[in-house]
Amino acid sequence: MQRLRRTRKNMLLRELVSETQIKKSGLIYPVFVRYEEGICEEIPSMPGVCRYSVDMLDTVAEQVVQAGIGGVMLFGIPQEKDETGSGARDENGVVAQAIRKFKSFFQKTGKRFLIIADICLCEYTSHGHCGVLACDDVDNDASLPLHAGAALAAVRAGADMVAPSSMMDGVVEAIRKTLDAEGYTDIPIMGYSAKFASAFYGPFRDAAESAPKSGDRKSYQVDCRNGREAMRELAADESEGADILMVKPALCYLDIVKQARERSDLPLAVYNVSGEYSMVKAAAAAGMIDERRIVKEILTSFFRAGADIVITYHALDYVRWEREGEIR
Ligand code: PBG
Repeated sequence: MQRLRRTRKNMLLRELVSETQIKKSGLIYPVFVRYEEGICEEIPSMPGVCRYSVDMLDTVAEQVVQAGIGGVMLFGIPQEKDETGSGARDENGVVAQAIRKFKSFFQKTGKRFLIIADICLCEYTSHGHCGVLACDDVDNDASLPLHAGAALAAVRAGADMVAPSSMMDGVVEAIRKTLDAEGYTDIPIMGYSAKFASAFYGPFRDAAESAPKSGDRKSYQVDCRNGREAMRELAADESEGADILMVKPALCYLDIVKQARERSDLPLAVYNVSGEYSMVKAAAAAGMIDERRIVKEILTSFFRAGADIVITYHALDYVRWEREGEIR
């Protein structure tokens, strides 16, 4: 008989043989920044997650510093939307302002965390698609310079990293070339490399007001049936010069995470998306699950599958529960 229970006998033994840790410095907290002032409003479909106006961001910065997580991922909700999403390229747009606000927090406090700018057009276009439209579909090549312009605006404002999430072919290369030409050769790009067309983005689209007005995103995001195609997406981003790869969503796609880990030596991120978060919150609110233990188990599964970086709305809660010994 194999006595596998020997090393599970007590907590010290279990700690001794534990294989996976939740790496705090690898957790990234998504932040929604909107226009106007004095706003800190909870998103109805994402309990515990808020949209902030720029002037309110110091409280977020303090929580991120206090938690000691890696940083934030910024999403902007502009006041005005148009056909080409020009707000994304505005050097005084919401995200640019938010970045400068965080930078002034760093100056004031001497504290620091990473600022990653999500680069996409869907929050900024009147039609809600991730690129410009031509004949009822998103025009890939015409969208590339628009994404490169958005990345440049974020980097000029002081972003430490950009993360293109539109699933346009060639977007990583387009951004790399633009950043390099402007002298930003040292700014890393995290590609949302294998981003699936998913119903798990539902609550985010409420939060970011970014749902497509007509149609869906199936002509640019990966079909959930296609694991091999996801591998081609990851390889394409790597060859275009991505510094970090990503798989998104996370929970239903851990097979993809595991394969990505085996195939590439680049750092690997997973995005634990809004719908995954909201399901946990709803079940916990209904008293059906132990939220804290569930969140710990979920975050552990990402690192066990091979992720180095986890983008998650649970980041601040998890670290606080862990520190205060609240997870049984
Ligand atoms: C924008 C974008 C989306 C998410 C991140 N960036 C939504 C989408 O593709 O519709 C989803 C994040 C989440 O659900 O938490 N392209």
